[in-house]
Amino acid sequence: MSNERHAEMSAFPTTRLRRLRYLPAVRELVKETRLSPADLILPLFVRPGKGVRQEISAMPGNYQVSPDLLVDEVRRVADQGLGGVILFGIPAEKDATGSDAVSDRGIVPQAVREAKRAVPELLLITDVCFCEYTDHGHCGVFSEATGRKDVDNDATLRLLAEQAVVHARAGADMVAPSGMMDGMVGAIRQGLDAADFAHVPIMSYAAKYASAFYGPFREAAECAPKFGDRRSYQMDPAAAAEQALREVALDLAEGADLVMVKPALAYLDIIRLVHDRWPGVPLAAYNVSGEFSMVKAAAQRGWLDEQAVVLESLTAIKRAGASIILTYWAKDVVRWLT
Ligand code: PBG
Repeated sequence: MSNERHAEMSAFPTTRLRRLRYLPAVRELVKETRLSPADLILPLFVRPGKGVRQEISAMPGNYQVSPDLLVDEVRRVADQGLGGVILFGIPAEKDATGSDAVSDRGIVPQAVREAKRAVPELLLITDVCFCEYTDHGHCGVFSEATGRKDVDNDATLRLLAEQAVVHARAGADMVAPSGMMDGMVGAIRQGLDAADFAHVPIMSYAAKYASAFYGPFREAAECAPKFGDRRSYQMDPAAAAEQALREVALDLAEGADLVMVKPALAYLDIIRLVHDRWPGVPLAAYNVSGEFSMVKAAAQRGWLDEQAVVLESLTAIKRAGASIILTYWAKDVVRWLT
């Protein structure tokens, strides 16, 4: 608060801020940040088969499921009034170019078709990236011509556009590119528009950091890189915060409809910066796998109160400026709030 504003305020004992805290009803009345089920997006993992429900060991309560069981899951989610789900696929076969990702018979399009048939009204977002589909586990393809052991940005763009069109054709309501390739939003926008999907919005993982908090996800989606790491495409946590604004600005210029900051808790400053710079752009934050697992583990040992910690953390993410939160606790939160 500026000195001027302080000057307007009378001093103690006339002013006692605790007056706003004594009664639960007053606390409730003056609350600014409220979580609601519609803010929350639940990540789900789908793998081929029938009747498959495999718990992810580092993320208790989260499962890889086959499309038939995914249908039961999305029905429950729709009944809870969540904002939506985001789908990640684990294909039967991985190869150098991630062929499953661009096939209409791939795991994600199959799952999307079934889920959409069962609950057409539930918002279904698909993650658009190659790390789950390539045998090397990187988020794009390598160029044979150069032989460089680094993802070929521009060769990957074509494939990302194809993958997005495959998802849209299957019935995805929104696509979410997460690979941090330069130009990915523009390439996907062009691809979607050319295939008559000009109405399908893009939620870009715009400021995505190379984070150790993705550890458990790499088991969930079976996408740990076989060599190297993702630091040549994901952002350096120590980079100037302004770089996140440049990433967001580029994605918006390329046609992103919603933008995301990821992870959430260690990047609340970035969420705040992006929100303040573009208050009118829907902003999502991804409360990632490591953020989930560390609280879960502490709660299992009786060291933390899971419900209290989660509600406090999600409130902080929303207070920082994110209006949409992707979280593995989405279903629990709805139970806790009602
Ligand atoms: C894949 C992707 C990742 C996550 C979402 N999409 C992993 C990564 O970039 O290594 C992480 C989600 C989480 O940790 O919960 N591109």
